[in-house]
Amino acid sequence: MVYITRKENFCAAHKLSIDKWTDAKNQQTFGKCANKNWHGHNYELIVTVKGIPDKETGFVMDLSQLSRIIQRQIIRKVDHKNFNLDVGFMKGIMPTTENITVSIFNELKKYLKKAKLHSVRLVETGKNSVEYFGEQKFSKIQ
Ligand code: NI
Repeated sequence: MVYITRKENFCAAHKLSIDKWTDAKNQQTFGKCANKNWHGHNYELIVTVKGIPDKETGFVMDLSQLSRIIQRQIIRKVDHKNFNLDVGFMKGIMPTTENITVSIFNELKKYLKKAKLHSVRLVETGKNSVEYFGEQKFSKIQ
């Protein structure tokens, strides 16, 4: 099995808070991400797919095709958008990096046919990132 990886970037806003909690508790739990009037991150989205290289082309999958799928199915829907308000596949889901990563994995796997989705890694800041390999099925993430 050979693993190939494509990196894309997007910018998006979010807010992490639980309505029934006090502002102080939200602030204490979610820190800067609890900011009342939203805030943004410059995300890096790193997608790895796996497969057997094609005998003729030598490709597991054409990386420009993988890029087009990521652009069309994810980036177009999230770039310069608000995860709490604008993104259909995040509706009702707390937009932590964990939940965004799992949701992107679950979206992307629908559109990959020849190569199999191996992992999605989402870098939120230079210091924080989340990776998901699809081990568990989440019917509803909160
Ligand atoms: Ni944040």
